[in-house]
Amino acid sequence: MSESNNYQVLARRWRPQRFSEVVGQDHIVTTLKNAIIQKRVGQGYLFIGTRGTGKTTIARILAKALNCQSSDSPVPEPCCECASCQAIRDGSSLDVIEIDGASNRTIDNIRQIRDTVSIAPVSSRFKIYIIDEVHMLTKEAFNALLKTLEEPPAHVKFFFATTDPQKIPPTILSRVQKFELHRMDWNTLNAYLSMMAEKEGLKASPDAIAAVARAGNGSMRDALSVFDQVLAWGGESVTEKDVAALLGLTNREIIIELSDAIARKDHESALRCVGKVMEGGRDPEQFILSLVQFFRNLTVLKVTSDPGSLLEESPEYMAELKKAGEKYTIGQLTAAIDELLQILPKLSATEAKQTVLELAVLKLIHIRARISPDMIFAKLEALEKGSVLAEKEKENSEPKKKETPEGDVALAKQLFPGSRLGKNQ
Ligand SMILES: Nc1ncnc2c1ncn2[C@@H]1O[C@H](COP(=O)(O)OP(=O)(O)O)[C@@H](O)[C@H]1O
Ligand SMILES: [Mg+2]
Ligand SMILES: [Zn+2]
Repeated sequence: MSESNNYQVLARRWRPQRFSEVVGQDHIVTTLKNAIIQKRVGQGYLFIGTRGTGKTTIARILAKALNCQSSDSPVPEPCCECASCQAIRDGSSLDVIEIDGASNRTIDNIRQIRDTVSIAPVSSRFKIYIIDEVHMLTKEAFNALLKTLEEPPAHVKFFFATTDPQKIPPTILSRVQKFELHRMDWNTLNAYLSMMAEKEGLKASPDAIAAVARAGNGSMRDALSVFDQVLAWGGESVTEKDVAALLGLTNREIIIELSDAIARKDHESALRCVGKVMEGGRDPEQFILSLVQFFRNLTVLKVTSDPGSLLEESPEYMAELKKAGEKYTIGQLTAAIDELLQILPKLSATEAKQTVLELAVLKLIHIRARISPDMIFAKLEALEKGSVLAEKEKENSEPKKKETPEGDVALAKQLFPGSRLGKNQ
């Protein structure tokens, strides 16, 4: 890969050419195919969705399907072989005109379109205008467009794409069929990237792919471009560590190491972990967010044995998480998350980031060491079963009646003299 000068980025090489290759948008693909089969294709379509979910891709496939020469009428799946399909793929079709709405937003730009719509297609069934980021058009441009949309010649189709439908006037919206693309969920991205890596012969660990899929954050294009960067960085075989390093994330090893240190109440090791994060030039806020995610994942694994789509992790790593989670109670985990979320704003307000991080992990140890009301009641039950201590306990207090946290702390102080309890420590 690296020796080739004309490396084509994954997002381009892997742009779906047929409806069957589009993932995660079955609701749209099925509707469009049916419309073609039933010969009820509309004149205007609007594809709505975040970046990199398939708006342009679907618009181009639909254009190919409508103009495909493999049959004498539109086909539900383009052949991808005929001259028309190939020209559309290469962007050289004279009858499929792609316009970037962001840079052609004036009334003059739209007038140019209006002047050409009446001219018959050069060599195809339909003349198709694909206008991307259509919400960027000026008010005047929309008005000019509206005229054309009201009575378009039979051979003309308009496919619009937008990330921001709010900005499109209702008069335009009411004249097109709207399709909302789904955000790519992690499972979809993860499965697609795994399949792609295998077909491309890329060596990437499941954890690395899981991390790339997370970084895609709902966008296939973003996931693929992160994958490109990771390959350029990591070379032959890509690990989760490469992905973390590239994205400035804290890698799993440090987080697991830190979690072990917290569970052991090992202050020194915990501080060393913070040191590693800072030395590695990682973003301190990312580090806190990774920790939040980590404790959140442990919580999820504690409350359900079948996390399904709640966890964006490979099965291998999930097993590791489960093990890490055994060292905490749910109360401790949620308290840890609370604490970390409170740290975040403090972090951005100061230059002393390392100190804030150190303080954060020390507090996590404190939370881990803290005795929760649950534990106190468990101890009490155990005590009740023993005779001598149970007597003493009766003398001192009536534990079952004490339900306020203050009561719990006071009681715990009696039961565990010397332990450091309470909110302000
Ligand atoms: N639904 C999808 N299925 C498969 N690949 C996709 C999908 N959506 C996007 N991609 C990938 O991302 C790239 C960009 O997609 P594109 O359709 O241009 O996104 P946009 O929604 O921003 O117009 C494609 O070339 C393809 O590699
Ligand atoms: Mg696009
Ligand atoms: Zn064709």
